[in-house]
Amino acid sequence: MRTTKTLGIVAAVGAAALMLSACSGAAAPSGSGEPAAGTTTTLRLALNQAEEHPSYIALTGFGERLSEATDGRYEIEVYANELLGAQAETLQFVSDGSVDLSVVSGTQLENLNPDFGVLNLPTVFSSIDHQMGALSDDEVVGDLYASLEESNAITVLGGLTQGERHVYTTFGPVQEPGDLSGKKLRVQESELHIAMAEAMGASATPLAFGELYGALQSGVVDAAENNAVSYFTQRHFEVAPHFTSTNHLIGTDYVIVNSDRLAGMSEEDRAAFEEEWDATWAEHTELWQTATDDAIAQAEAGGATFHELDSDAFADALAPMVEEFIETDEQQALFDAIRASAE
Ligand code: GCU
Repeated sequence: MRTTKTLGIVAAVGAAALMLSACSGAAAPSGSGEPAAGTTTTLRLALNQAEEHPSYIALTGFGERLSEATDGRYEIEVYANELLGAQAETLQFVSDGSVDLSVVSGTQLENLNPDFGVLNLPTVFSSIDHQMGALSDDEVVGDLYASLEESNAITVLGGLTQGERHVYTTFGPVQEPGDLSGKKLRVQESELHIAMAEAMGASATPLAFGELYGALQSGVVDAAENNAVSYFTQRHFEVAPHFTSTNHLIGTDYVIVNSDRLAGMSEEDRAAFEEEWDATWAEHTELWQTATDDAIAQAEAGGATFHELDSDAFADALAPMVEEFIETDEQQALFDAIRASAE
């Protein structure tokens, strides 16, 4: 069983981040410019997934290739399993420079700039290929990715797919909002996703990812929504064995980096960093489908039941969210640009 730790984690993480800064040896502190000749700068990357997750695999590969491409001037250490904190905390650590990089869900960035919410809406992406095309198109997302630099010292390097998200429960399959009535559905900490859970008929309970296993097990929540990969790698199938393919959303993770750290790289190293990042998201996208198939097979072997959705009731209930959440011309333009590339 995963242990959970809401209160303790904030203190523990602060201490861990301080300790890591103190121990990083050759690593120059964030924002201090280029590393001295012959030294290696270790970039610390915070991740809330397990080591078998495609994000861990692809990002570890990123570090190895970066080290090779920069002749050892930079390397990346990936800290999995929320070791450096839950995403809301690591977002803050990247901003203050105590952690260099983190994977955070789009729902976290929506809390800093509501425009990110456009990409968290159900129906914005038609497929993973469509999503990754949009997320890597500078014309579509360039301004968005730079929008947190001045305010938060955070640069968005790019996106990774979370794949299709579905609902899983402790109590049985769901086919329509009525099936979730009176049930507590865990959601990410986002206004938009709270509204999404309510539109799906549930009562929304926002919780950090690492707290979910215990919350499902103890009955704090009755249901959750995520992709099959996290369902399996977080072992949620053990405590919520009914998975229904609602496919209500294709979610997005972002890799964020401290902007001063990035600005401190030489032109050559930064070019290598960006080139290896491109290879990383491409590899991640390639790994995703196989990881999904494997996760379903293994969760089934572990006792989970996968149910097909046989009605459009959830899609119909979620459709009004687009109008409800798009508030500005810029958000509408972003939504339209992404939708246009689906055709
Ligand atoms: C996915 C996603 C994570 C996110 C999680 C969640 O697993 O990749 O970044 O934290 O969903 O539901 O919290």
